[in-house]
Amino acid sequence: MKANPNKRTQRNLRADAATVIFTILEKGQSARECLPAMQELHKDQDKAWLQEMVYGVLRQLPLLQYWLRALLETPLKNKFKITEHLILLGFYQLAFSRVSQHAAVSETVEACRSLRVESMRGLVNGILRNFIRNETSQQTPSDEQINSGLPKWLYKRLAVAYPQSLTDLIQQIENKAPIWLRVNAKKISSRDFQQELSQKGIEYTLSPQHPHALILNKSVDVTSLPGFELGWFAVQDGAAQLAAAYLEPQTHDNILDCCAAPGGKTGHLLEVTHDLVLTALEIDMQRASKIEENLARLGHQATLLIGDASQPQTWWDGKQYDRILLDAPCSATGIIRRHPDIKWLRKASDIQALVTIQHDILDALWPLLKEGGILLYATCSILPEENHQQMAAFLARTANARLDTSFKHDAHQPGRQILPGEQQMDGFYYCRLIKSGENLG
Ligand SMILES: C[S@@+](CC[C@H](N)C(=O)[O-])C[C@H]1O[C@@H](n2cnc3c(N)ncnc32)[C@H](O)[C@@H]1O
Repeated sequence: MKANPNKRTQRNLRADAATVIFTILEKGQSARECLPAMQELHKDQDKAWLQEMVYGVLRQLPLLQYWLRALLETPLKNKFKITEHLILLGFYQLAFSRVSQHAAVSETVEACRSLRVESMRGLVNGILRNFIRNETSQQTPSDEQINSGLPKWLYKRLAVAYPQSLTDLIQQIENKAPIWLRVNAKKISSRDFQQELSQKGIEYTLSPQHPHALILNKSVDVTSLPGFELGWFAVQDGAAQLAAAYLEPQTHDNILDCCAAPGGKTGHLLEVTHDLVLTALEIDMQRASKIEENLARLGHQATLLIGDASQPQTWWDGKQYDRILLDAPCSATGIIRRHPDIKWLRKASDIQALVTIQHDILDALWPLLKEGGILLYATCSILPEENHQQMAAFLARTANARLDTSFKHDAHQPGRQILPGEQQMDGFYYCRLIKSGENLG
């Protein structure tokens, strides 16, 4: 969408934030689908504010809704429904942001005009003023699920999976994620890139476990960093950066990077090893175009296939792979701190469906791996069903699959579960399997 710069000043930020929140929560669109288009209509300094407000409301939603139920007797319906989202935004500004009380109330009330619910102005004004007068924000509920900021189903699952560390886990999920960069070793050395950043006054931290990583100390527009157009770096969380080291591709290996879009791990694999024969497989054509775009910027090449991983007969050339990275479709519960819309878009019923898809893809890919070959299974989930339970079930039904004992598995569980916040990383899961053969044991 091409923005009209004259219109940028006329738009009401709060009305647009409420519209995005409404679109995510009521229409089930992801923030990735609806937020950037809305941001395009605003001036640069307002784009970040818009995201902060939308993400803030999504992070605190159960608490904001609890307050709404206390102050709004009858739920609003039909065209007035969006007013509820506007009020939630008003609460968020008053309780969690540095916006002055006066601006939070008057500007939020004003947004009713842009949303064409002008008749709601009195109601919004009354509720926000009551909120301030009654000090509603200081009334925290005793319900742990509401305070957790998570939907009920997810709270319950995490409480069962992580009874000992639940409070810390919830805190980590609520925190904002830092920006991690991966230096493209084929274009620039880490040291030279660090110098470029320092010259521009951009502060960063290094991570001892990640040879190509930098963590930015402050959030910035990454496209404005030195060397973005030249492909000096990619934006990639530290947990995702472990995939290349864990797969350990060797020169001339025939590699399948399965479920590859937008190509974050594809690029990294091509950076760490020379002369790979790499095939990136992705089911979604639109998302696959992102792989092309990202590889072109970084200066890498791979064979790109559009196909369903669970149906190799439709795309496989019959040459077995030395190594397979299966970055499986998953609940993405490990990256909620980065994309808080995920927790409202996912439903409890999605989990079993995802477990079935992962199961089917694993079974379909296994025959494509050479004897002695390695399959690295990865998800950005923190749910055991998708991770160590999935792996345990696969090992139980697959005679020639075994755990690679050179990989650092968790105690008593196959694979490594990384929880959000661990060494500043996103929540991720990895498990490395070896295909044994007649002579391989
Ligand atoms: C977790 S994302 C992959 C992230 C990617 N590996 C990276 O590092 O940038 C999972 C991807 O799997 C794709 N996908 C889902 N089901 C698939 C299937 N049956 N076959 C192939 N790709 C699939 C999704 O469209 C999505 O792009």
